[in-house]
Amino acid sequence: MHPNVRLALVLCYLGGGFCGWQRQRLGRSVQGELEAALTRLYGWPITIHGAGRTDAGVHAAGQVAHLDVPDRIPPTGLRSALNSLLGNDLRVMAVRRVGEGFHARASATGKRYRYRLAWGAPLPPWEAQRRWLLPGDPDLAAMADGLAAIRGTHDFAAFALSGHSGHGRRGTVRTVSLAELRRHGRQADLVLEGDGFLRGMVRRLTGALWELGRGARDRGWIEGLVSGTVDRPPAPTAPAHGLTLERVLYPPAGLDLTRLPRHVAVIMDGNGRWARQRGLPRVEGHRAGIKTVREVAEAAARLELGVLTIYAFSTENWKRPTWEIRTLMGLLREYLQRELDVLVDNGIRLRPIGRLEALEPDIQQGLARAVEATRHGTGLTLQIALNYSGRSELQDACRTAARLAARGELDPETIDEPWVAAQLATAGSPDPDLLIRTSGEQRISNFLLWQIAYAELYFTPVLWPDFRARDLILAVADFARRERRFGGVLEGGARPGDEEG
Ligand code: FPP
Repeated sequence: MHPNVRLALVLCYLGGGFCGWQRQRLGRSVQGELEAALTRLYGWPITIHGAGRTDAGVHAAGQVAHLDVPDRIPPTGLRSALNSLLGNDLRVMAVRRVGEGFHARASATGKRYRYRLAWGAPLPPWEAQRRWLLPGDPDLAAMADGLAAIRGTHDFAAFALSGHSGHGRRGTVRTVSLAELRRHGRQADLVLEGDGFLRGMVRRLTGALWELGRGARDRGWIEGLVSGTVDRPPAPTAPAHGLTLERVLYPPAGLDLTRLPRHVAVIMDGNGRWARQRGLPRVEGHRAGIKTVREVAEAAARLELGVLTIYAFSTENWKRPTWEIRTLMGLLREYLQRELDVLVDNGIRLRPIGRLEALEPDIQQGLARAVEATRHGTGLTLQIALNYSGRSELQDACRTAARLAARGELDPETIDEPWVAAQLATAGSPDPDLLIRTSGEQRISNFLLWQIAYAELYFTPVLWPDFRARDLILAVADFARRERRFGGVLEGGARPGDEEG
């Protein structure tokens, strides 16, 4: 008897010959063909689980599926055997052994799609079967402008083909982290990467962009569609044959999900430089930074991290010009109004930390409302540091100690580390295991001075508005590889504060 092993298949197919990914009683499906071939090889019915379905006619260059089979055919042998049984329009490109925790769909962190366009000249037949020949010359600048409105986290309900119910915790909200139009001659590829796509979403987005490309609509219309102020697009859904699922994204190989940080703290830096590089006012950098906050918070929730603490406004930030402070406070107001649903949908609990009493009364009220609305979240705790200073909270703790001691209510000898930790704004949260600072600066800037005593530090040159869910995963993967000793010598030793009893 051979023990079972979990394998991942990387698949490539031309969609034209299939009625889609999913097994059907009548008609050729990718899943059906693969399962039939596997069943022939192993001698009993084998089921495979794909990273997601592709519709009839949609191609794949890197679809992924997993299956459990007896460990009797080596991966390369299985690849050759399967390919000898499959039609020419379906290839198994790779077979890999994976851990039993791997799940083609559930372990995926995102997908990348490519929609191929062409115009003008006739296409050779082999290109015509995977490119949409537009009926006229497109205004590519207008299409690129529309694409910019798609980037980020939005409710894409307007772009879902019927058949997508928007089920699950995320509903129809998705984050598109990459949206580019790459031109080469009289062809262009629309490349979209995101944490997930609704059924038909890329094809409907492409159809809507073509409306801009042919001059029938403008960017405001796309913005209306993603913000929900305009209904479903009365636009063509781009044909399936132009679309290819390029890759399914997974955390870096070897990411040990049992070694994830419980608490990640982030110094979000580089908004100003991001804006300057683009010739935009600084406020646009902060605005783009908010989109990153949303994406990173969602990614942290999906990774099931316990706490994410972000440094949104330090006590030192009051030194900035008045207009910039006003802008940041305005963005915070907007954030508290607009993001509440996203936080609630993702089970995220909001916890502001810092000297909040110095903030304007309506902001304090907005924060209190958000705390109340997210109180029942069972996932991530998002701590937003506002008017925060690490030294100030230690100073406050000293004052409390002195006051209590002077009144005879506290014996100085009983002041220990847990007592100090309990005086801080973060009381009750585990200390950060990982501190990330973006934009290449390597400073702590008065952030969580007590709490980061044993944190691993991670500095990345990526500017905060460019920081993506994938960058968080890279940071977390880097953390998972580090050996933490907490001042001791043995790996796996207890963390300070982990003592039993
Ligand atoms: C540093 O960029 C960033 C900040 C001072 C604040 C970060 C704020 C946000 C991301 C938006 C507000 C967040 C919420 C949740 C409301 P910088 O301006 O110092 O950049 P630079 O060093 O390149 O000039």
